Amino acid sequence: MFKSCVAVLVAALCGLTAPANAAEGEPFVIKFAHVVADDTPKGKGALLFQKLVHERLAGKVKVEVYPNSTLVGDADEMQALLDGRVQMLAPSLSKFGKYTRKLQVFDLPFLFDDQDAVQRFQKREMSRELLRSMADSGIYGLDYWNNGLKQLSATQALRTPDDAAGLAFRIQPSAVLEAQFEAVGAKPVVLPFAEVYSALKKGEVQGAENPWSNIASQNMHTVQPFITESNHGVLNYMLVTSSKFWMSMPFAVRSELEGIVLEVTQAVNKEAAALNQRDRDRILASGSSKLITLTPEQRQAWREKMMPVWQRYEADIGADVIRAALTVNRKH
Ligand code: SIN
Repeated sequence: MFKSCVAVLVAALCGLTAPANAAEGEPFVIKFAHVVADDTPKGKGALLFQKLVHERLAGKVKVEVYPNSTLVGDADEMQALLDGRVQMLAPSLSKFGKYTRKLQVFDLPFLFDDQDAVQRFQKREMSRELLRSMADSGIYGLDYWNNGLKQLSATQALRTPDDAAGLAFRIQPSAVLEAQFEAVGAKPVVLPFAEVYSALKKGEVQGAENPWSNIASQNMHTVQPFITESNHGVLNYMLVTSSKFWMSMPFAVRSELEGIVLEVTQAVNKEAAALNQRDRDRILASGSSKLITLTPEQRQAWREKMMPVWQRYEADIGADVIRAALTVNRKH
């Protein structure tokens, strides 16, 4: 204990960012921070990762899970990762814009037919390359974790794009999502996830876009009387660590961890759809929100209004990346 305190103190005095396990013989500590509740696809994934590491690497690696923005929120979590204050995160793919624009392919509205198509894309070579797209910034992508497709919620019924005009919608920090709402005449407002419920409740914004699991776990449905099942975009995650931290571990430990990551990824991605279905059922059973089901014509109207965003961001994201994503759709 004394030894570890001295090591941390020396590192601090020297201005170094010491790995969390700087003292010899101590386990590597992985602080895994995230912004959602435990009972969500990501929350469960983090806990399963912790459990498997405890079972297989006790004494060598210790995982601490911090859900619900309790350690860092989404405004500063990436910096915390790079500073060595946390060692693992799984931000939404919309939150990496500062480090790479390529991942914003996942934000393009109506790009993927369904979550199965997204899942196919995540397994393709292009997506595997995107895991390395932030290497220059010291960010190491481990894998993709699913949540689900996003639904539009609001204080009024949204059937056509005109229904959204003039309303303020909370968005994640993504230029593509900003353009998507501007395309229907709405006002996008960037807010950290932890502030969304309160902003909706106070009427600072009138709408949002989320998968069912995030709506339910934050009780957003209690302040959003209408939910349009639009499935217009995707909210999945990239499990990331810092290259510096990851490479500071011995090869054998890293290999074991990578095996665990693969196992947890498969579990999360298998269960995410069922969790979203469960939360959809719970929300509808609560009677707090009216479900709006779009006719094919109404859905097409949203699609047509939002699709120009693809072309606007093609140069930033890369035409090759968008093309690769489109090939996973069955009708392609
Ligand atoms: C999350 O699921 O991690 C939160 C996404 C959001 O900020 O909407």
